[in-house]
Amino acid sequence: MERVAVGLLGLGTVGAGVAKLLTERSDLIARRSGRVIDLKHAVVRDLAKKRSLTFDSRKLSDNPRLVVDDPEIKVVIETMGGIEPTLGLVMDSLANGKDVVTANKALLAEHGCEIFAQARKYGRAVAFEASVGGGIPIIQALEVGLAANRVTSLAAIVNGTCNYILSKMTQEGLPYSLALKQAQELGFAEADPTLDVDGTDTAHKLAILAQLSFGATVTTKQIPREGIDRLQPADITYAGELGYVVKLLALAKSAGEGLELRVAPTLVKRGTPLAEVRGPYNAVRVVGDAVGDTLFYGRGAGEFPTASAVVGDVIDVVVGRAALTFKALNLWSTDAPTIQLASPDAVRSRYYLRFSIADRPGVLATLAKALGGHGISIASVIQHEPADGSDGHVPLVIMTHHAIEASLKSALAEIDALDVVRRPSVCLGVED
Ligand code: NAP
Ligand code: HSE
Repeated sequence: MERVAVGLLGLGTVGAGVAKLLTERSDLIARRSGRVIDLKHAVVRDLAKKRSLTFDSRKLSDNPRLVVDDPEIKVVIETMGGIEPTLGLVMDSLANGKDVVTANKALLAEHGCEIFAQARKYGRAVAFEASVGGGIPIIQALEVGLAANRVTSLAAIVNGTCNYILSKMTQEGLPYSLALKQAQELGFAEADPTLDVDGTDTAHKLAILAQLSFGATVTTKQIPREGIDRLQPADITYAGELGYVVKLLALAKSAGEGLELRVAPTLVKRGTPLAEVRGPYNAVRVVGDAVGDTLFYGRGAGEFPTASAVVGDVIDVVVGRAALTFKALNLWSTDAPTIQLASPDAVRSRYYLRFSIADRPGVLATLAKALGGHGISIASVIQHEPADGSDGHVPLVIMTHHAIEASLKSALAEIDALDVVRRPSVCLGVED
Protein backbone atom coordinates (compact mmCIF):
# COMPACT_ATOMS: atom_id res chain seq x y z
CA MET A 1 0.00 0.00 0.00
CA GLU A 2 1.20 3.52 -0.81
CA ARG A 3 2.71 5.35 2.18
CA VAL A 4 2.06 9.07 2.68
CA ALA A 5 4.21 10.99 5.18
CA VAL A 6 2.48 13.74 7.12
CA GLY A 7 3.85 16.27 9.61
CA LEU A 8 2.07 17.76 12.59
CA LEU A 9 2.59 21.32 13.83
CA GLY A 10 1.39 21.35 17.45
CA LEU A 11 0.74 18.55 19.89
CA GLY A 12 -1.65 20.28 22.29
CA THR A 13 -5.33 19.42 22.78
CA VAL A 14 -6.12 18.97 19.08
CA GLY A 15 -2.68 17.83 17.87
CA ALA A 16 -2.48 15.11 20.53
CA GLY A 17 -5.95 13.87 19.49
CA VAL A 18 -4.83 13.79 15.85
CA ALA A 19 -1.64 11.89 16.71
CA LYS A 20 -3.64 9.37 18.76
CA LEU A 21 -6.21 8.77 16.01
CA LEU A 22 -3.52 8.44 13.32
CA THR A 23 -1.57 5.89 15.33
CA GLU A 24 -4.25 4.02 17.27
CA ARG A 25 -6.57 3.47 14.31
CA SER A 26 -4.07 3.32 11.49
CA ASP A 27 -5.69 0.15 10.05
CA LEU A 28 -9.11 1.76 9.75
CA ILE A 29 -7.62 4.92 8.26
CA ALA A 30 -5.58 2.86 5.77
CA ARG A 31 -8.73 0.99 4.74
CA ARG A 32 -10.68 4.23 4.29
CA SER A 33 -7.92 6.07 2.44
CA GLY A 34 -6.22 3.24 0.58
CA ARG A 35 -2.89 4.50 1.95
CA VAL A 36 -0.72 4.12 5.03
CA ILE A 37 -0.59 7.52 6.66
CA ASP A 38 2.72 7.86 8.42
CA LEU A 39 3.00 10.59 11.07
CA LYS A 40 6.65 11.32 10.37
CA HIS A 41 7.26 14.29 12.63
CA ALA A 42 5.53 16.51 15.20
CA VAL A 43 6.54 19.95 16.44
CA VAL A 44 5.93 21.59 19.82
CA ARG A 45 7.10 24.76 21.53
CA ASP A 46 8.26 23.21 24.80
CA LEU A 47 9.91 19.79 24.51
CA ALA A 48 9.96 19.38 28.29
CA LYS A 49 6.16 19.70 28.66
CA LYS A 50 4.25 16.66 29.99
CA ARG A 51 1.92 15.29 27.30
CA SER A 52 -1.23 13.17 27.27
CA LEU A 53 0.43 10.66 24.91
CA THR A 54 3.76 8.94 24.55
CA PHE A 55 5.42 10.16 21.40
CA ASP A 56 8.65 8.80 19.92
CA SER A 57 11.15 11.50 20.93
CA ARG A 58 13.10 10.97 17.67
CA LYS A 59 10.05 12.20 15.78
CA LEU A 60 9.46 15.23 18.02
CA SER A 61 11.18 18.61 17.89
CA ASP A 62 10.69 22.29 18.55
CA ASN A 63 11.74 23.21 15.01
CA PRO A 64 8.79 23.63 12.59
CA ARG A 65 11.20 23.75 9.63
CA LEU A 66 11.75 19.98 10.09
CA VAL A 67 8.16 19.57 8.91
CA VAL A 68 7.78 22.50 6.54
CA ASP A 69 11.02 21.84 4.63
CA ASP A 70 10.97 18.03 4.60
CA PRO A 71 10.42 17.00 0.96
CA GLU A 72 9.08 13.60 2.04
CA ILE A 73 6.20 15.15 4.00
CA LYS A 74 3.21 15.63 1.68
CA VAL A 75 0.65 16.99 4.13
CA VAL A 76 1.20 19.52 6.92
CA ILE A 77 -1.38 19.34 9.70
CA GLU A 78 -1.46 22.69 11.47
CA THR A 79 -2.80 22.53 15.03
CA MET A 80 -0.50 25.17 16.53
CA GLY A 81 -3.02 27.98 16.46
CA GLY A 82 -2.41 31.73 16.38
CA ILE A 83 -1.24 33.91 13.52
CA GLU A 84 2.51 34.18 14.04
CA PRO A 85 4.59 32.21 13.21
CA THR A 86 1.78 29.99 11.88
CA LEU A 87 0.93 32.07 8.80
CA GLY A 88 4.52 31.97 7.52
CA LEU A 89 4.75 28.22 8.14
CA VAL A 90 1.50 27.55 6.26
CA MET A 91 2.57 29.78 3.34
CA ASP A 92 5.97 28.05 3.17
CA SER A 93 4.41 24.57 3.39
CA LEU A 94 2.21 25.40 0.38
CA ALA A 95 5.15 26.86 -1.52
CA ASN A 96 7.07 23.66 -0.76
CA GLY A 97 4.34 21.66 -2.51
CA LYS A 98 2.48 20.37 0.56
CA ASP A 99 -1.24 20.30 1.15
CA VAL A 100 -2.35 21.85 4.43
CA VAL A 101 -4.98 20.71 6.91
CA THR A 102 -5.76 23.28 9.57
CA ALA A 103 -8.06 23.75 12.56
CA ASN A 104 -7.10 27.41 12.80
CA LYS A 105 -10.17 29.60 12.24
CA ALA A 106 -8.37 32.79 13.30
CA LEU A 107 -5.80 32.24 10.56
CA LEU A 108 -8.41 31.59 7.86
CA ALA A 109 -10.69 34.43 8.95
CA GLU A 110 -7.86 36.96 8.91
CA HIS A 111 -5.65 35.61 6.11
CA GLY A 112 -7.91 33.39 3.98
CA CYS A 113 -7.21 35.39 0.80
CA GLU A 114 -3.40 35.10 1.03
CA ILE A 115 -3.44 31.45 2.05
CA PHE A 116 -5.89 30.36 -0.64
CA ALA A 117 -4.06 32.39 -3.30
CA GLN A 118 -0.81 30.71 -2.29
CA ALA A 119 -2.44 27.26 -2.46
CA ARG A 120 -3.80 28.02 -5.93
CA LYS A 121 -0.42 29.36 -7.06
CA TYR A 122 1.33 26.13 -6.08
CA GLY A 123 -1.54 23.79 -7.07
CA ARG A 124 -2.15 22.63 -3.51
CA ALA A 125 -5.25 22.31 -1.30
CA VAL A 126 -6.18 23.66 2.12
CA ALA A 127 -8.70 21.65 4.15
CA PHE A 128 -10.29 23.17 7.26
CA GLU A 129 -13.24 21.11 8.50
CA ALA A 130 -12.15 21.47 12.14
CA SER A 131 -12.14 25.25 11.96
CA VAL A 132 -15.91 25.54 12.53
CA GLY A 133 -18.12 23.38 14.72
CA GLY A 134 -15.41 20.97 15.98
CA GLY A 135 -16.48 17.49 14.92
CA ILE A 136 -19.58 18.58 12.96
CA PRO A 137 -18.97 18.18 9.21
CA ILE A 138 -20.48 21.60 8.44
CA ILE A 139 -17.76 22.71 6.01
CA GLN A 140 -18.26 19.60 3.87
CA ALA A 141 -22.03 20.06 4.07
CA LEU A 142 -21.84 23.64 2.81
CA GLU A 143 -19.20 22.87 0.17
CA VAL A 144 -20.81 19.74 -1.22
CA GLY A 145 -24.16 18.61 0.20
CA LEU A 146 -25.89 22.01 0.06
CA ALA A 147 -24.11 23.25 -3.08
CA ALA A 148 -27.37 23.45 -5.05
CA ASN A 149 -28.80 26.01 -2.62
CA ARG A 150 -28.70 29.72 -2.17
CA VAL A 151 -28.33 29.99 1.58
CA THR A 152 -30.82 32.55 2.88
CA SER A 153 -29.93 32.52 6.59
CA LEU A 154 -27.77 30.88 9.14
CA ALA A 155 -27.91 30.85 12.94
CA ALA A 156 -25.21 29.03 14.83
CA ILE A 157 -23.80 28.18 18.21
CA VAL A 158 -20.15 27.68 17.30
CA ASN A 159 -18.18 28.34 20.45
CA GLY A 160 -18.10 25.34 22.78
CA THR A 161 -16.51 27.31 25.61
CA CYS A 162 -19.25 29.95 25.65
CA ASN A 163 -22.02 27.40 25.29
CA TYR A 164 -20.50 25.39 28.14
CA ILE A 165 -20.31 28.48 30.34
CA LEU A 166 -23.86 29.62 29.53
CA SER A 167 -25.22 26.10 30.10
CA LYS A 168 -23.49 25.85 33.50
CA MET A 169 -24.71 29.31 34.54
CA THR A 170 -28.28 28.58 33.37
CA GLN A 171 -28.75 24.99 34.51
CA GLU A 172 -26.55 24.87 37.61
CA GLY A 173 -26.26 28.52 38.62
CA LEU A 174 -22.44 28.25 38.42
CA PRO A 175 -20.54 31.55 38.53
CA TYR A 176 -19.11 32.66 35.18
CA SER A 177 -15.46 32.46 36.31
CA LEU A 178 -15.77 28.89 37.60
CA ALA A 179 -17.52 27.71 34.43
CA LEU A 180 -14.77 29.32 32.32
CA LYS A 181 -12.09 27.60 34.39
CA GLN A 182 -13.79 24.24 33.81
CA ALA A 183 -14.02 24.88 30.05
CA GLN A 184 -10.28 25.62 30.01
CA GLU A 185 -9.48 22.46 31.98
CA LEU A 186 -11.57 20.40 29.56
CA GLY A 187 -9.52 21.70 26.59
CA PHE A 188 -12.38 23.64 24.94
CA ALA A 189 -10.96 27.15 25.32
CA GLU A 190 -8.44 28.91 23.12
CA ALA A 191 -4.91 29.43 24.46
CA ASP A 192 -6.14 32.98 25.18
CA PRO A 193 -9.74 32.44 26.35
CA THR A 194 -10.56 36.12 25.83
CA LEU A 195 -11.02 35.16 22.17
CA ASP A 196 -13.80 32.80 23.20
CA VAL A 197 -15.69 34.95 25.68
CA ASP A 198 -15.49 38.27 23.83
CA GLY A 199 -17.06 36.75 20.70
CA THR A 200 -13.94 36.93 18.51
CA ASP A 201 -13.69 33.16 17.99
CA THR A 202 -17.37 33.05 16.99
CA ALA A 203 -16.75 35.95 14.59
CA HIS A 204 -13.79 34.06 13.06
CA LYS A 205 -16.08 31.10 12.47
CA LEU A 206 -18.85 33.32 11.10
CA ALA A 207 -16.36 34.83 8.63
CA ILE A 208 -15.63 31.29 7.37
CA LEU A 209 -19.32 30.36 7.24
CA ALA A 210 -20.08 33.62 5.38
CA GLN A 211 -17.44 32.74 2.78
CA LEU A 212 -18.88 29.26 2.24
CA SER A 213 -22.57 30.15 2.46
CA PHE A 214 -22.75 33.55 0.80
CA GLY A 215 -19.39 33.93 -1.01
CA ALA A 216 -18.69 36.94 1.24
CA THR A 217 -15.08 37.73 2.06
CA VAL A 218 -15.24 39.53 5.39
CA THR A 219 -12.72 40.20 8.10
CA THR A 220 -13.55 39.81 11.74
CA LYS A 221 -13.53 43.60 12.16
CA GLN A 222 -16.46 43.89 9.76
CA ILE A 223 -18.64 41.68 11.95
CA PRO A 224 -20.43 43.51 14.78
CA ARG A 225 -19.73 41.36 17.80
CA GLU A 226 -20.43 41.12 21.48
CA GLY A 227 -19.38 38.28 23.73
CA ILE A 228 -20.65 36.78 26.95
CA ASP A 229 -17.98 38.42 29.11
CA ARG A 230 -20.29 41.28 30.09
CA LEU A 231 -23.46 39.24 30.35
CA GLN A 232 -25.04 39.44 33.78
CA PRO A 233 -26.62 36.42 35.52
CA ALA A 234 -29.77 38.54 36.09
CA ASP A 235 -30.41 38.55 32.34
CA ILE A 236 -30.16 34.76 32.18
CA THR A 237 -32.74 34.62 34.99
CA TYR A 238 -35.16 37.12 33.41
CA ALA A 239 -34.79 35.43 30.03
CA GLY A 240 -35.80 32.18 31.76
CA GLU A 241 -38.90 33.88 33.24
CA LEU A 242 -39.88 34.95 29.75
CA GLY A 243 -39.41 31.41 28.35
CA TYR A 244 -36.01 31.97 26.73
CA VAL A 245 -32.40 30.90 27.18
CA VAL A 246 -29.39 33.08 26.37
CA LYS A 247 -27.04 31.70 23.69
CA LEU A 248 -24.05 33.24 21.95
CA LEU A 249 -25.23 33.19 18.35
CA ALA A 250 -23.50 33.78 15.04
CA LEU A 251 -26.17 35.15 12.72
CA ALA A 252 -26.11 35.68 8.97
CA LYS A 253 -29.07 36.70 6.88
CA SER A 254 -29.37 37.67 3.28
CA ALA A 255 -31.62 40.75 3.41
CA GLY A 256 -32.70 43.41 0.92
CA GLU A 257 -30.07 45.86 2.20
CA GLY A 258 -27.24 43.31 1.95
CA LEU A 259 -25.82 40.54 4.09
CA GLU A 260 -26.48 40.95 7.82
CA LEU A 261 -23.76 39.47 10.02
CA ARG A 262 -23.49 39.62 13.77
CA VAL A 263 -22.29 37.80 16.86
CA ALA A 264 -24.19 38.48 20.06
CA PRO A 265 -25.66 36.92 23.18
CA THR A 266 -29.24 36.37 22.07
CA LEU A 267 -32.47 35.18 23.66
CA VAL A 268 -33.58 31.92 22.03
CA LYS A 269 -37.06 30.50 22.68
CA ARG A 270 -36.92 27.51 25.01
CA GLY A 271 -37.87 24.26 23.28
CA THR A 272 -36.48 25.30 19.89
CA PRO A 273 -33.50 23.23 18.66
CA LEU A 274 -30.82 25.89 19.27
CA ALA A 275 -32.08 26.55 22.80
CA GLU A 276 -31.56 22.89 23.68
CA VAL A 277 -27.90 22.80 22.58
CA ARG A 278 -25.98 22.40 25.83
CA GLY A 279 -22.45 22.15 27.18
CA PRO A 280 -19.66 22.04 24.58
CA TYR A 281 -22.10 21.05 21.85
CA ASN A 282 -22.47 23.28 18.79
CA ALA A 283 -25.24 23.55 16.23
CA VAL A 284 -25.52 25.29 12.90
CA ARG A 285 -28.95 25.97 11.45
CA VAL A 286 -28.73 26.59 7.71
CA VAL A 287 -31.73 27.63 5.64
CA GLY A 288 -31.35 27.04 1.92
CA ASP A 289 -33.80 28.07 -0.78
CA ALA A 290 -34.11 24.51 -2.09
CA VAL A 291 -33.56 22.36 0.98
CA GLY A 292 -35.39 24.54 3.54
CA ASP A 293 -34.37 24.24 7.17
CA THR A 294 -31.40 22.07 8.16
CA LEU A 295 -29.63 21.62 11.49
CA PHE A 296 -26.12 20.28 12.07
CA TYR A 297 -25.33 19.28 15.63
CA GLY A 298 -22.44 17.77 17.53
CA ARG A 299 -19.51 18.36 19.82
CA GLY A 300 -17.96 21.68 18.94
CA ALA A 301 -14.70 21.52 20.85
CA GLY A 302 -12.32 19.19 22.63
CA GLU A 303 -9.61 16.71 21.73
CA PHE A 304 -11.33 13.90 19.84
CA PRO A 305 -14.28 15.70 18.24
CA THR A 306 -11.84 18.17 16.70
CA ALA A 307 -9.29 15.48 15.83
CA SER A 308 -12.10 13.57 14.11
CA ALA A 309 -12.58 16.49 11.71
CA VAL A 310 -8.84 16.99 11.19
CA VAL A 311 -8.17 13.33 10.40
CA GLY A 312 -11.22 13.25 8.11
CA ASP A 313 -9.58 16.11 6.20
CA VAL A 314 -6.24 14.27 6.06
CA ILE A 315 -8.02 11.29 4.47
CA ASP A 316 -9.84 13.63 2.05
CA VAL A 317 -6.52 15.21 1.07
CA VAL A 318 -4.53 12.00 0.52
CA VAL A 319 -7.37 10.42 -1.47
CA GLY A 320 -7.43 13.49 -3.73
CA ARG A 321 -11.00 14.63 -3.02
CA ALA A 322 -9.94 17.79 -1.20
CA ALA A 323 -7.98 18.98 -4.25
CA LEU A 324 -11.06 18.67 -6.48
CA THR A 325 -13.33 20.55 -4.07
CA PHE A 326 -10.67 23.17 -3.39
CA LYS A 327 -10.17 23.86 -7.08
CA ALA A 328 -13.87 23.89 -7.96
CA LEU A 329 -14.96 26.23 -5.17
CA ASN A 330 -12.29 28.90 -5.61
CA LEU A 331 -12.87 30.18 -2.08
CA TRP A 332 -11.42 33.48 -0.80
CA SER A 333 -10.80 34.50 -4.38
CA THR A 334 -10.16 38.13 -5.28
CA ASP A 335 -12.09 37.49 -8.55
CA ALA A 336 -15.32 36.78 -6.65
CA PRO A 337 -18.00 39.50 -6.73
CA THR A 338 -18.09 41.72 -3.64
CA ILE A 339 -21.01 41.01 -1.35
CA GLN A 340 -22.58 44.11 0.14
CA LEU A 341 -22.88 44.02 3.94
CA ALA A 342 -25.99 45.50 5.54
CA SER A 343 -25.54 48.27 8.09
CA PRO A 344 -26.04 46.94 11.65
CA ASP A 345 -28.53 49.79 12.12
CA ALA A 346 -30.81 48.23 9.49
CA VAL A 347 -31.23 44.95 11.40
CA ARG A 348 -34.81 44.17 12.38
CA SER A 349 -35.32 42.07 15.49
CA ARG A 350 -37.27 41.73 18.69
CA TYR A 351 -35.31 42.99 21.69
CA TYR A 352 -34.99 42.23 25.38
CA LEU A 353 -34.33 45.37 27.40
CA ARG A 354 -33.47 45.71 31.09
CA PHE A 355 -33.48 49.04 32.82
CA SER A 356 -32.67 50.01 36.38
CA ILE A 357 -35.29 52.64 37.13
CA ALA A 358 -36.23 54.83 40.06
CA ASP A 359 -39.17 53.28 41.90
CA ARG A 360 -41.36 56.38 41.50
CA PRO A 361 -44.77 57.17 39.95
CA GLY A 362 -44.82 57.72 36.19
CA VAL A 363 -41.39 56.23 35.39
CA LEU A 364 -42.76 53.22 33.54
CA ALA A 365 -45.00 55.52 31.48
CA THR A 366 -42.00 57.75 30.65
CA LEU A 367 -40.04 54.77 29.31
CA ALA A 368 -43.02 53.44 27.35
CA LYS A 369 -43.48 56.90 25.81
CA ALA A 370 -39.81 57.10 24.81
CA LEU A 371 -39.97 53.68 23.13
CA GLY A 372 -43.30 54.51 21.46
CA GLY A 373 -41.87 57.79 20.20
CA HIS A 374 -39.34 55.78 18.18
CA GLY A 375 -41.98 53.39 16.86
CA ILE A 376 -41.06 50.58 19.27
CA SER A 377 -43.95 48.55 20.52
CA ILE A 378 -43.83 46.70 23.86
CA ALA A 379 -44.72 42.98 23.82
CA SER A 380 -44.37 42.21 27.56
CA VAL A 381 -43.04 43.67 30.80
CA ILE A 382 -41.63 42.24 34.03
CA GLN A 383 -41.31 44.35 37.15
CA HIS A 384 -41.05 42.69 40.54
CA GLU A 385 -41.66 44.19 43.97
CA PRO A 386 -38.47 45.93 45.18
CA ALA A 387 -36.18 43.55 47.08
CA ASP A 388 -35.48 44.16 50.78
CA GLY A 389 -32.69 46.69 51.07
CA SER A 390 -33.40 48.13 47.60
CA ASP A 391 -31.70 51.49 47.04
CA GLY A 392 -34.79 53.01 45.42
CA HIS A 393 -34.05 51.52 41.99
CA VAL A 394 -35.79 48.46 40.59
CA PRO A 395 -35.18 46.36 37.49
CA LEU A 396 -37.67 46.74 34.65
CA VAL A 397 -37.56 44.17 31.85
CA ILE A 398 -39.27 44.86 28.53
CA MET A 399 -39.65 42.59 25.51
CA THR A 400 -40.36 44.52 22.34
CA HIS A 401 -42.10 43.57 19.14
CA HIS A 402 -39.94 43.75 16.00
CA ALA A 403 -38.03 47.01 15.72
CA ILE A 404 -35.26 48.48 13.60
CA GLU A 405 -31.92 48.64 15.44
CA ALA A 406 -31.35 52.31 14.54
CA SER A 407 -34.69 53.26 16.19
CA LEU A 408 -33.87 51.14 19.20
CA LYS A 409 -30.46 52.79 19.64
CA SER A 410 -32.08 56.25 19.50
CA ALA A 411 -34.71 55.23 22.06
CA LEU A 412 -32.08 53.76 24.38
CA ALA A 413 -29.93 56.88 24.14
CA GLU A 414 -32.98 58.98 25.12
CA ILE A 415 -33.89 56.64 27.98
CA ASP A 416 -30.32 56.38 29.32
CA ALA A 417 -30.22 60.19 29.50
CA LEU A 418 -33.22 60.28 31.90
CA ASP A 419 -32.37 61.00 35.53
CA VAL A 420 -34.79 58.25 36.64
CA VAL A 421 -32.69 55.61 34.84
CA ARG A 422 -29.39 54.23 36.07
CA ARG A 423 -27.10 53.60 33.08
CA PRO A 424 -26.22 51.50 31.22
CA SER A 425 -29.35 49.71 30.16
CA VAL A 426 -29.11 46.17 28.81
CA CYS A 427 -30.24 45.27 25.29
CA LEU A 428 -30.14 41.78 23.79
CA GLY A 429 -31.57 40.54 20.49
CA VAL A 430 -34.25 37.83 20.41
CA GLU A 431 -34.52 34.90 17.97
CA ASP A 432 -37.95 33.28 18.14
P1 NAP B 1 -3.05 24.10 22.37
O1 NAP B 1 -3.55 23.03 23.26
O2 NAP B 1 -2.59 25.37 22.95
O3 NAP B 1 -1.91 23.46 21.44
C1 NAP B 1 -1.06 24.21 20.63
C2 NAP B 1 0.15 23.37 20.28
O4 NAP B 1 0.98 24.08 19.39
C3 NAP B 1 1.00 23.00 21.49
O5 NAP B 1 1.48 21.69 21.36
C4 NAP B 1 2.15 24.00 21.42
O6 NAP B 1 3.36 23.50 21.97
C5 NAP B 1 2.30 24.15 19.92
N1 NAP B 1 2.85 25.46 19.56
C6 NAP B 1 2.29 26.66 19.76
N2 NAP B 1 3.08 27.64 19.27
C7 NAP B 1 4.17 27.03 18.77
C8 NAP B 1 5.35 27.48 18.14
N3 NAP B 1 5.57 28.78 17.95
N4 NAP B 1 6.26 26.57 17.74
C9 NAP B 1 6.05 25.26 17.94
N5 NAP B 1 4.94 24.75 18.52
C10 NAP B 1 4.02 25.63 18.94
O7 NAP B 1 -4.18 24.50 21.31
P2 NAP B 1 -5.38 23.59 20.79
O8 NAP B 1 -6.54 23.75 21.70
O9 NAP B 1 -4.90 22.23 20.46
O10 NAP B 1 -5.78 24.40 19.45
C11 NAP B 1 -4.96 24.33 18.32
C12 NAP B 1 -5.68 24.95 17.14
O11 NAP B 1 -6.90 24.26 16.91
C13 NAP B 1 -6.07 26.42 17.34
O12 NAP B 1 -6.02 27.07 16.09
C14 NAP B 1 -7.51 26.33 17.82
O13 NAP B 1 -8.24 27.49 17.52
C15 NAP B 1 -7.99 25.16 16.98
N6 NAP B 1 -9.13 24.43 17.51
C16 NAP B 1 -9.14 24.03 18.81
C17 NAP B 1 -10.20 23.28 19.29
C18 NAP B 1 -10.26 22.82 20.71
O14 NAP B 1 -11.31 22.28 21.10
N7 NAP B 1 -9.22 22.96 21.51
C19 NAP B 1 -11.27 22.98 18.44
C20 NAP B 1 -11.23 23.42 17.10
C21 NAP B 1 -10.15 24.13 16.64
P3 NAP B 1 3.49 23.15 23.53
O15 NAP B 1 2.57 21.99 23.73
O16 NAP B 1 4.90 22.81 23.73
O17 NAP B 1 3.04 24.38 24.26
N1 HSE C 1 -12.26 27.50 21.69
C1 HSE C 1 -13.12 26.94 20.70
C2 HSE C 1 -14.47 26.70 21.31
C3 HSE C 1 -12.56 25.65 20.18
O1 HSE C 1 -14.61 26.74 22.53
O2 HSE C 1 -15.41 26.48 20.55
C4 HSE C 1 -13.35 25.08 19.02
O3 HSE C 1 -13.19 25.86 17.89
